[in-house]
Amino acid sequence: MSSSLLSGCSGAGDAGVGQQLAGDAPDVFLQACRQCHRPPSPKVHSRYEWPPVIERMQMHMMQQGRRPMTANDRQSILDYLVSHAGR
Ligand code: HEC
Repeated sequence: MSSSLLSGCSGAGDAGVGQQLAGDAPDVFLQACRQCHRPPSPKVHSRYEWPPVIERMQMHMMQQGRRPMTANDRQSILDYLVSHAGR
């Protein structure tokens, strides 16, 4: 496990770092999440937990002056996370 991708955002912690990502992770997901920490595995949350987590990440993006997700991005990201979610 490498922490070299954890840059910029202190406190992002271990967001599923080292977990296997499902093979079809869309670029938009990888690029959006990578701005602050390694993209988490969809398995770290259930399909019910993901939407509020994504809302919180959007808030972090705005607060930290990162590129926020467009409505389309957010939909693709949620589609991916929910269809591979844990539990
Ligand atoms: C602007 C920076 C930023 C971006 C971009 C970002 N995150 Fe985060 N993320 C954080 C911070 C800060 C924390 C720790 C505080 C928290 O949990 O809100 C975190 C924590 C997490 C956690 C662990 C906490 C939990 O609730 O499980 C997950 C999972 C997560 N992020 C998912 C994502 C996903 C998925 C994306 C891409 C869509 C993303 N993040 C993009 C800043 C960011």
